[in-house]
Order: sequence, then C-alpha cells, then structure tokens
Amino acid sequence: MSYQTPRGTYDILPEEAGKWHDLERVIREKTKLYRYREIRTPYFEDTAVFKRENDSSDMVNKEMYTFTMGNDSLTLRPEGTAGVIRAFDQHKLYGSMEMPARLYYVGAMFRHERPQKGRQRQFTQFGVENIGAKTPEIDAETIALGYDIVKAMDISSVKVLINTLGDDASRAAYRNALKEYFAPYLDELCGDCHRRYEQNPLRILDCKVDHDKEFMKGAPRLSDYLNEESRAYFDQVLKCLDRLGIPYEIDEKLVRGLDYYTHTVFEVVSTRPDSGAQATVFGGGRYDNFVSYYGGPDMSGIGFAIGMERLIQLAEAEGHDFRENETADVYVIGLGQVGSEVLATVQQLRAAGFAAEANLVPRSLKAQFKSADRCGASSIVILGEDEVKNGTVNIKRSGEKEQQTVKREELVSLLKEWKGR
Ligand code: HAM
Repeated sequence: MSYQTPRGTYDILPEEAGKWHDLERVIREKTKLYRYREIRTPYFEDTAVFKRENDSSDMVNKEMYTFTMGNDSLTLRPEGTAGVIRAFDQHKLYGSMEMPARLYYVGAMFRHERPQKGRQRQFTQFGVENIGAKTPEIDAETIALGYDIVKAMDISSVKVLINTLGDDASRAAYRNALKEYFAPYLDELCGDCHRRYEQNPLRILDCKVDHDKEFMKGAPRLSDYLNEESRAYFDQVLKCLDRLGIPYEIDEKLVRGLDYYTHTVFEVVSTRPDSGAQATVFGGGRYDNFVSYYGGPDMSGIGFAIGMERLIQLAEAEGHDFRENETADVYVIGLGQVGSEVLATVQQLRAAGFAAEANLVPRSLKAQFKSADRCGASSIVILGEDEVKNGTVNIKRSGEKEQQTVKREELVSLLKEWKGR
C-alpha cells in the first residue's frame, strides 16, 4: 500500500523550503517597514464566522471544508480576513491598538476547488488588514505594500487592476439597475446566477458560465451609478497611485470573488503568457461593514491577500535568485576513535554561530570529504587521534589544498576571521 497527498495538496520538500523562507523573509522585512504586526488566528472557526447571512460568493457557498464535531459546526478557514476581523472584535483591539490597526498573517487556507496549475485545495496566503480608518491614502498605501513585495521578488510582468464598487448607496442603486436589466434574461442565466440574482446581482458579471453570453455586453456599468462621494474617493486613490508611480489599469468588470467589498477593489495579475487561468497573484479591497458584523464598532478596513504558491512560481519564472542559505559554514571530519570529540567540536562551532555539520557515523576519509563538498561547507576541520591528544585541529578552506594545524581554543577565532574576509 502506498499513500499520496490528498488531491489539491502538496508537500514542500527540503529543496523547495528555502524558497519559502526567502519569500517569508521578504514579507517580514516589508511588513516591518510598513509597521504591520502579525496576528495568528485558528485554522478553523465556527462556520458562522465565514457563512455570513446572504453571502453569495462561491467560496462560502460551494468551497468550504465544513465538519461537525459534537454540536459544533466548524469550518477550515477559506481565507484570512474573516478570522482576523473576528479576533479584532473579540479582543477589542480597537481599544488597545494604535488606530488604524495594521495586521498581517501568513498561513494555510482551504478551499474545495477543482485543482489545476496555481489552484490548490490547501494553499498559503500572506495577507494584511488595515482596520479602523478610511482614506484614499490608506487604500493606495495598502496596494503599495503588496506591490513592493512583488517587486522585491523581482517580478515585473504584472499589472495592477483597480475598480471601485462605491459606497452602500451607489451599490444599492446599481444592484437595482442590474436586477431590472437581467430580469428578462433569467431563463438564460445558469443556476448559480439565479441565486446570485436574488442575493447579489453584481456576482453575475463575474460568472464563468454566462460570461460570454451576448446580453452580458449590454449590462449597466457601475461607474454610471456611483454617487459623487464615491467617485471623488476613487479619483483620490488613483491620484495617490500616480504620485507613488504605481502603474494601474482601471477594470470596470473587476468585482472580486468575495462579498464584503465596498469602494476600492484591486488585483495584481501576471501578464506572462505561461501563467494560465490562475494569473491573479493577489487581490483585496475595502470593506465598510465587516467590523460591525462581528459585533465591533462601525469601522472600515482594507486589505489584500497574496497567494504565496503563485508568487513563488512567478518569481521563479521571472528569474528571481532565491537566497536559500542552505549551505554549511563548516564540516568536521573525524579519523579514528574520535567520535565524541567530533561531536564536541560541532557543538562548539554551533554555539559560536556557525552552521556546522559532521557525519556522526564512522566513514572513510574520502566519503567524509565528499559529504563536506555536498553540503557546501566553506571550511573543513579534520580531527584525528593525534590532534585530540595534542589539543589541536587541522583546518582548511574548501577548494584549497593546504591545511594548517591550530590549537583547539583558536579554532573559533580563526573561522570568524575567515568568514569576515
Ligand atoms: P482572494 O482573492 O480570494 O482574496 O484570494 C487572494 C489570493 O489568494 C488570490 O489572488 C490567489 O493568489 C490566492 N488563492 C486563492 N485561492 C487559491 C487557491 N485555491 N489556490 C492557490 N491560491 C489561491 C481573499 O482571500 C481576501 N481575504 C483578500 C482580502 C484581504 N481582502 C481584504 N483583505
């Protein structure tokens, strides 16, 4: 019997893990610069945290991993925002944190989607939420953070798509216009769109099944229903992006797959022809009514989430040099009955901050040199029975023939000197 990972999941093998560390390093550096703080919420929540009344999104209605334990209905988190806002309200962070609160998270998300390139059932998101204030400057700053991370991974074949969904009043007017428009075509809409028609007709515009039908072309445009306030807000967001030199494209069809957005929505998509159907690297937007939904005050927030698998794939395709840092600094070779001294030496080196490796199994000199070579060690320490007796070690730099004998107590300072050069 052999076992495989479940469909839509994957293992990160050691040779891949360095890429993740590299991206995580960039994320931590950038979030620090933007003064975001990490929040870690559970991998599952009460189902009600995700399944909000009248939510029409596919994610909530079709893709959630929901299970019952005792009397509890629980759901593996399909995204990070809901849990973060739940935590923000539960712990009254609006009272204890500097506002707006700047929170970020990194972790696995679960959606029961049809797996394909760039789409898994378990995937990893890095996301941020800026909660407690609403200005176009904050919207632009949030987009800038995501864009900065993409750039730091050497990705240039991307574009920022941006749109506004307007405030509640604008959307209500638009919603009515859409209902009126689609009413005569109801019979031609797919089953899901019937549900969307009732719950959130904006979603119909996003439908993959009905997308190409002729009548879709004549659907009313949201921009015609924006009130003055919403339009001015959006114009100022664009002005800020211009000022920051972030290129964007206004995409009036961009409504995003989740239901909670108001005002600014955005996505960063790959423009590489090989990225396939799942070209969206990250997406996000503003939400006006989410914080109060979970029992908190009436506050607005904005955030985005990056699909880390997609970002790594894209960075690779764009030739990013992953700083994997997996090589050893020193390899310790033992000859004869010196096992405990080899062990003591690698421990001494580790305590001094060197990534040190030794094969603690008796092996030939040749085999040990080969291992030293394979782990990329830049220095090699050789310990034989005579050296142990004399309190010395032999040491050489890899690639060089000559070795020198030094006192055991001088080993660390010599290696530090070599490393510093
Ligand atoms: P989302 O657009 O559903 O937004 O997901 C964000 C990103 O996660 C996508 O752009 C994509 O890169 C990645 N992603 C989503 N589903 C999958 C999948 N099945 N496999 C691989 N990658 C995937 C959100 O999740 C919102 N919570 C973003 C947000 C934060 N909005 C406001 N704050």
